Amino acid sequence: MSTIPKRFTVTAALPYANGPVHIGHLAGCYLPADIYVRFLRLCNKDVLFICGSDEHGVPITLKARNEGITPQQVVDKYHALMGNAFKDFGISFDIYSRTSAPIHHETAQEFFTNLYEKGEFIEQNTEQFYDEKEKTFLADRYIVGTCPNCGNENAYGDQCEKCGKSLSPSDLINPKSKLSGAVPIKKETKHWFLALDRYQEEWINDWLPTHKDNWRPTVYGQCKSWLDQGLQPRAITRDLDWGVKVPLAGEEGKVLYVWFDAPIGYISATREWSQKTGKDWEPYWKSNDSKLIHFIGKDNIVFHCIIFPAILKAHGDYILPTSVPANEFLNLEGDKISTSRNWAVWLHEYLNDFPEKQDELRYVLTSIAPETKDSDFSWKDYQARVNNELADILGNFVNRVMVLTHKYFGGKVPTSTFTPNKEVEDATINIHQHVAELINNYEFRSAQTEVMQLARAGNKFLADAQPWKLNQETQQAEIADIISYSIDIVARLSVALAPFLPTTSIKLRKMLNTTESFSWNDILTASLPEGHAIGLPEILFKKIEDDAIIAQLDKLEQSKQENLSATSNLKPMKDGITFDDFSKIDIRIGTILSAERVPKADKLLKLLVDTGIDQRTVVSGIAQHFEPEAIVGKQVSILVNLAPRMLRGIESQGMILMAEDSAGKLHFVNPPHAVENGSTVQ
Ligand code: 2FM
Ligand code: ZN
Repeated sequence: MSTIPKRFTVTAALPYANGPVHIGHLAGCYLPADIYVRFLRLCNKDVLFICGSDEHGVPITLKARNEGITPQQVVDKYHALMGNAFKDFGISFDIYSRTSAPIHHETAQEFFTNLYEKGEFIEQNTEQFYDEKEKTFLADRYIVGTCPNCGNENAYGDQCEKCGKSLSPSDLINPKSKLSGAVPIKKETKHWFLALDRYQEEWINDWLPTHKDNWRPTVYGQCKSWLDQGLQPRAITRDLDWGVKVPLAGEEGKVLYVWFDAPIGYISATREWSQKTGKDWEPYWKSNDSKLIHFIGKDNIVFHCIIFPAILKAHGDYILPTSVPANEFLNLEGDKISTSRNWAVWLHEYLNDFPEKQDELRYVLTSIAPETKDSDFSWKDYQARVNNELADILGNFVNRVMVLTHKYFGGKVPTSTFTPNKEVEDATINIHQHVAELINNYEFRSAQTEVMQLARAGNKFLADAQPWKLNQETQQAEIADIISYSIDIVARLSVALAPFLPTTSIKLRKMLNTTESFSWNDILTASLPEGHAIGLPEILFKKIEDDAIIAQLDKLEQSKQENLSATSNLKPMKDGITFDDFSKIDIRIGTILSAERVPKADKLLKLLVDTGIDQRTVVSGIAQHFEPEAIVGKQVSILVNLAPRMLRGIESQGMILMAEDSAGKLHFVNPPHAVENGSTVQ
């Protein structure tokens, strides 16, 4: 759009309400969106910032089933948790709604009806998997079986989570219904499809290239490759009982596909905002002088750049997105963030461990934002950035200015002549112009770095000027110039930092004792009048101690260990036995007197064992784990009342007990120090 937009409709991907929010979500979508919106507001733009919980879809119903609660209970829990986490981190949505809200069901159904009545849908019968025991069609996620690629026995009908391969249910070996365990059959069912192939020919092929130069190459590239492969009609309904009901008579049991209803959730949320504020929602979605911007993660690109625009265009009254700044992924300590493996930093836990340090995390996540490629969060890097940048540069500068003002001028802005410093002025002008451009171009990482340049310049100015070395009586005017100018720099920082570190900006304004509202242009003129009494100094950023970092790393290590044991190949427990069964077993401690390989048997060793009762021969399947000569003299546990068995022509009179770990490695079960042979194990 070449005209200057009159208003901005900014959306942040609706997160699924089936788990808490982690740092990957924040860095990938919500934080950049918030910085952008806060900046626009500072530029006095008309902006509406929309989000809410995505409460439909199969994973939510599966979670409910596993936990024995209803899907509504699942989403109620996470909707509250996510909403609070966003609030705690200063994500300044104008509305945080949810797709289980009645207004959303109504809006999504209106969309369906509108498109249906225009004849936009293709109605088609297809064969879908069906569970005859449960009398229900099965979404791909409800079918499990063996992955044809890696042999994982618990692969889903849409993907194998072990090897990552995309699957369809018919690819699975031995497919089973996750609901009843029954083998699913194929059954015919009716669905409605969006004619994406037709839209591609009619307008998408022409529309997409208009964004070749103003969308990120990764975003444009992904869309282009979809178009190159040719779009296919896409089903927008499902046979499920959780979701927005298809608003057609006689079509019970059918709901809208979650990716059809979720983006419409942005519109429903805007309508809810309108009901609450009494303001008109329609210009934000229907007026050509509005700019629609979707902040998302890279896994959502096709839905926001092709499918949702197709829905909006098919409706006809709506504008299409101008920008879709999608971020790549954030990793954690070199590994992919994973909810199921608990490899994440959860926002609510972070704030428990680091109370009131939301700006510290905002700062670090923006410094490493995965804007053009995947990036990595590490706790050591977090500590270094907080301590060396926020505390040592920004915090230190502000604190010195505050303390010096109190020390030399009783906490009042002194009378001074304006004596600008070149680096400080350059940094200020750069923020006003260049940082604004960077933000408008969704380059928040560089923008924040440039803002910090002003803190660096201020810190250097004060360190070079060294007012504390000047003579308080004879050089008071010079001291006043330095301090007064430094106070102005703090005032400028309070403006420039506002989009990035909102809590810090408020603290700075409080310390400066100024409550006036401000705008981005005020960076150039921010100044406090002579005689103005400032507030008391407050430490802005406390250093992060090593112990706190070690505790976080320990927490992650624990997740790793728990995950290892949960996914290991430990054998399942055997059926229960009675005490009488157990008491029939006679296990003794014995000593291996000699050991030799059994000819032509790779796995067997022939052992002579002193059991305390006698000396006997035992054939044991441990030859691949131990060299015979290395085990002579070892004490072992031996089951002595096992009926003798012939193995390779040798009578084996008992069995040596071994512990087998999850990796299949064998270990002798023996006492920690030597005991008398024949001692019983009970
Ligand atoms: O990937 C996700 O978390 C989806 N719930 C995003 C939906 S964005 C929009 F369409 F609502
Ligand atoms: Zn696999």
